[in-house]
Amino acid sequence: MSTALVILAAGKGTRMESDLPKVLHKIGGAPLLHHAMLSASALEPERTVVVTGHGAELVEAAARDFDGDAVAVRQEEQLGTGHAVAQSRNALSGFEGDIIVLYGDTPFISTETLRTMLDARNNHDVVVLGFEAPDPGLYGRLITDGNSLLRIVEYKDVTDEERGITLCNSGVICADAKCLFDLVAAIGNKNASKEYYLTDIVEIARQRGLTATAVTCDEAETIGINSRIELAAAETTFQTRKRQELIASGVQMQAPDTVFLSYDTTIGRDAEIEPNVIFAPGVTVESGARIRAFSHLEGAHVSRGATVGPFARLRPGAELAEDVHVGNFVEIKNAAIDEGAKVNHLTYIGDADIGARSNIGAGTITCNYDGVMKHRTTIGRDVFIGSNTMLVAPVTIGDEAMTATATTVTKDVPDGAMAIGRTEQTNKPGFARKLFSLLRAKKQAKG
Ligand code: UD1
Ligand code: CA
Repeated sequence: MSTALVILAAGKGTRMESDLPKVLHKIGGAPLLHHAMLSASALEPERTVVVTGHGAELVEAAARDFDGDAVAVRQEEQLGTGHAVAQSRNALSGFEGDIIVLYGDTPFISTETLRTMLDARNNHDVVVLGFEAPDPGLYGRLITDGNSLLRIVEYKDVTDEERGITLCNSGVICADAKCLFDLVAAIGNKNASKEYYLTDIVEIARQRGLTATAVTCDEAETIGINSRIELAAAETTFQTRKRQELIASGVQMQAPDTVFLSYDTTIGRDAEIEPNVIFAPGVTVESGARIRAFSHLEGAHVSRGATVGPFARLRPGAELAEDVHVGNFVEIKNAAIDEGAKVNHLTYIGDADIGARSNIGAGTITCNYDGVMKHRTTIGRDVFIGSNTMLVAPVTIGDEAMTATATTVTKDVPDGAMAIGRTEQTNKPGFARKLFSLLRAKKQAKG
């Protein structure tokens, strides 16, 4: 049976107090919208439709960024969740199968929960995802009779008796495409909010002799984000969960609460992550690598046995082969460092290739930017780059070559050669002592 997704993301998100559309606010480095799409992507949906409204262009771009085939439809006026789903009808014409309706601001629904809903579809026409909430607040309430779901009542419309119900509506609904759109077409807006409630399809379905049921998940999965306070709390939830996943899979962390991860951070077994490390998106750390304290990594790959930090920064395109050492106050960007090479202190390596076992001395800089364009530095294997070498790119250093300390390299260095480019040293006997006493005398005269 094929599946399609309809993701509702037209709402304004007024309470975020932000110019950015709500679903583009991030958790673990990825927009809320991507989290919603991510858990459903494991179902391999045949089509994904995102309903946009506020900030439509930005939201559409983000949707395509996650899934190039995602289709966006506009809901010009936000007349309710039922109205929003109706907008996806044309985009889904010809689709046969189950549709799952998700909210773009609800990031934690698990794939497993969605699978349970699809399973429940075997026995029921409409499946709603509910959850037990000790404090059900403003959520819609599910009115059930045994296994049957009778209707959903919005908070604004509940009776005093219904208010006491703790089984709530998450908003996620699943039904066959034809069935869903037939039901949605019958929704009216005679309610406290004058909105077209998607939730009304349950009662309409039952009036038509169809069946509905609720499957439940943990309340933590159904959290929707409405304010920055909720966003921050959700970030904490995400971080805790992701840390636990990694630790359970064999990653060593001494102070997990100080390690910040992204949605896609991948770390291998027996890798060690010291305190206060930040993983921005796109990082893979392989088994047995060690990321030392206070390092920041983004878009980087660290191979087995490599060591990074303390206080190192790996930027996008940093590719560290096995047993590479990157030490303190080193920045690496768009550079491949081959097996066993060492860049240990106070260095910038950008747009470069460094060969196996080469050693880059302290204070080395690849001068990769001429103010207009970026250029590449290529360093061979078994090279020794002396401290404080300026490598003015584009430039190539051959295998087993060497640069003398403080050399500014502007010309290619052949294999096995040593480049030295600095003014010759002269010593002036006794000059330092004379100068010191002169300066001290001056200071004294000044008082
Ligand atoms: C909805 C449910 C409620 C449930 C709650 C769970 C309805 C009528 N109510 O209420 O039963 O307990 O979610 O969080 O469905 N949206 C659009 N277009 C619209 C309206 C909404 O795209 O015209 C989108 C919003 O951007 C949001 C989602 O739909 O992503 C939910 O809308 P929201 O207004 O937050 O619904 P609730 O009032 O919270
Ligand atoms: Ca909401």
